[in-house]
Amino acid sequence: MSGAAAVRPGSGSAAVLCGLGTWLPPHAVTNDDLARELDTSDAWIRSRTGIGTRFIAAPSTATSDLAVEAGRRALKSAEADSVDAVVLATTTPDHPCPATAPLVAAQLGLGTVPAFDVGAVCTGFLYALATGAGLIATGTAGSVLVIGADTYSRILDPADRSTRAIFGDGAGAVVLRSGGADEPGALGPPVLGSDGTGSDLITVRSGGSREPLHTAGPIGTGDGGDAGDAARPDPYFRMAGRAVFRNAVERMAEASLMAARRAGWEVADIDRLVAHQANLRILHAVADRMRLPRHRCPVHLDQVGNTAAASIPLALSYAAATGRLTPGHRTLLTAFGGGLTWGACALRWPALTPM
Ligand code: UT7
Repeated sequence: MSGAAAVRPGSGSAAVLCGLGTWLPPHAVTNDDLARELDTSDAWIRSRTGIGTRFIAAPSTATSDLAVEAGRRALKSAEADSVDAVVLATTTPDHPCPATAPLVAAQLGLGTVPAFDVGAVCTGFLYALATGAGLIATGTAGSVLVIGADTYSRILDPADRSTRAIFGDGAGAVVLRSGGADEPGALGPPVLGSDGTGSDLITVRSGGSREPLHTAGPIGTGDGGDAGDAARPDPYFRMAGRAVFRNAVERMAEASLMAARRAGWEVADIDRLVAHQANLRILHAVADRMRLPRHRCPVHLDQVGNTAAASIPLALSYAAATGRLTPGHRTLLTAFGGGLTWGACALRWPALTPM
């Protein structure tokens, strides 16, 4: 990268966050818009989730398009014109094969750098961040573009009010560079976890090797989160909302406390907890469980909904742009998603301009 000429692959050190970029598709869908199509209301969605609006990609826009825009902005924010690797977290790749990251790297003009996707559903960004930090720690890369991008509107059942009320499309990206562990922006040791015994709580059941779509009969319609008739294919995203809610609160609070401990922080030291923007009630419950004042958890979901792998960089950008997150803040990132997966990571917020 141009701004860090002294950093070369092989140096092996801490990963320092030095650039942040985001992108949302232009079409906003309000709760009232949804209520015109589904049996729901602005009052229900706001009171149960805190969400007011979400953005939906045009039919011609795929996840790579969102990722390229966010990636370009992150590179600009880092004043970098190249990186040594691209890691893309997504559950909605452009195609089942190949991965979306190489296409994104090519479209960003990054040449033949290693580029690959990471699948950890809504925890994807933190898994990708940890992967990028690992590439730097091992000396494989001196700088990494880490992107979280999702187009959930493509996998939601049009008839499922419980998921359509929540999810929106978007992308966010950060640039990591090799640096010192004491620098602002240096990532602490990431905390990651999974529990595959809960893999049925968040699913897109059909379209993989267990249940290829081409062997299936007619596609069934969903009915609000019900897994449906097991004999029929189901290409849609399904979520057992209440069980996911409970697990999300427990796991994000636990992982956050562990990441804080690893960073040597007490709860009182945590200035900001930037959590995956799943549901306002979840954010409050995580803060309460950690005995952290709720105002230390920036809220962005009211404006964009749950943007899955993009939600943490989007929330960081919004918080930084509005002065809720300022340089020096001891910041925890945390997420929970299908898998089940979860994670957390600590950093002192650096001086940068989100793009
Ligand atoms: O990003 C990955 C992680 N995801 C999450 O963390 C999401 C976690 N879960 C949630 O956020 C919440 O569980 C939901 C927002 C999805 C649902 O809220 P809830 O308070 O747990 O509601 P529920 O699923 O228990 O459903 C209660 C009722 C049901 O009706 P009945 O069966 O009681 O008649 C639902 O059909 O609310 C109904 N409902 C709705 N009503 C109006 C569900 N969605 C809607 C809706 N509008 N949009």
